[in-house]
Amino acid sequence: MTNFLKVSGFSLLMIGGFSAYSNFGIPQIIPAPPPVEEKLELGAMTMDQFVAFGGKIYNGKGTCTLCHNAMGRAPMLDKIATVAAENLKNPNYKGAAKTVEEYLHESLVKPSAFVPAGFGKAGSNDTESPMPDVSGGGIGLAEAEIAAVIAYLQESSGSEVTVAIPALPAADATASEEAAPLKTPEEVIAKYTCGVCHVFAGQAVAGQDVGSGPGMLGPSLARIGAAKSREYLRQSLLDPDAVIAKGYAPGMMPKTYGEQLKAQELEMLVNYLAKSK
Ligand code: HEC
Ligand code: HEC
Repeated sequence: MTNFLKVSGFSLLMIGGFSAYSNFGIPQIIPAPPPVEEKLELGAMTMDQFVAFGGKIYNGKGTCTLCHNAMGRAPMLDKIATVAAENLKNPNYKGAAKTVEEYLHESLVKPSAFVPAGFGKAGSNDTESPMPDVSGGGIGLAEAEIAAVIAYLQESSGSEVTVAIPALPAADATASEEAAPLKTPEEVIAKYTCGVCHVFAGQAVAGQDVGSGPGMLGPSLARIGAAKSREYLRQSLLDPDAVIAKGYAPGMMPKTYGEQLKAQELEMLVNYLAKSK
């Protein structure tokens, strides 16, 4: 045991030393992307990649570990699949979920549906949860991200993953051809699930810089207009591999937007990004 600890401590030191060296010692080298990021169109993901994606959100953008940690501010989730099954049978449970998957979804978007004893807001007698709705406000997880987090929670608590990988609405090309153009940039961003990979203006995650917080698969676009021209932005959408943002892997940003976006929608998006300063 002590030997094992020594050996792993040593290799951690080596890894730490090496990444410190490569970050500060030889700045011109682009850091290797984390392993999950090879190709990230949801439709092309394996379940393992989807679960890893959920883990990344859990530990990053989702800010879950700010509260779900050993400090006791929120329940530990390492056995949540079993706990959820028990809570569903609890007489105090008043939510609408029937399955563990539904329970987890409800816990994320309607945290007050069930509050385990002792974890409620002070004075609420465990009727109100201090946990925010993770689909709203500062955290703002998209439905696909929530599904990935649920898959991760199931997997990491040793249970079977029942979540289906959601199809990107973008795959629905025929429907979008007939539909009227969308009216606001926010609608375009929502429809094409850009938020799965990017942070947009006004979406800073609590406790994280809008720069490139952990958990983001693509660069932050919150202030992209200050740095890039409209031409660059248009090209980023139509031909994402033409210029690869520093520190990111080519091939991740979908190349289908050129065919899918209506001209009006594209211009709306470019204007919106150009104004994000
Ligand atoms: C601000 C602190 C906070 C953050 C951030 C937070 N949680 Fe929670 N969470 C809590 C607290 C407190 C509870 C217990 C009360 C309740 O059930 O709502 C809880 C409950 C839960 C439950 C239900 C546990 C049970 O036993 O029923 C799940 C699942 C969960 N959180 C997952 C998450 C995930 C995933 C994230 C990130 C996307 C997250 N939480 C972010 C504080 C937080
Ligand atoms: C699956 C993840 C993913 C999705 C979905 C995605 N992007 Fe990207 N995007 C990336 C990655 C990774 C990069 C950086 C690599 C590159 O430049 O191609 C990037 C780069 C960009 C850039 C250039 C940023 C820079 O600093 O050079 C813009 C602008 C952009 N994306 C906008 C969008 C918009 C708008 C959408 C939705 C219509 C979208 N992206 C959807 C992953 C994604």
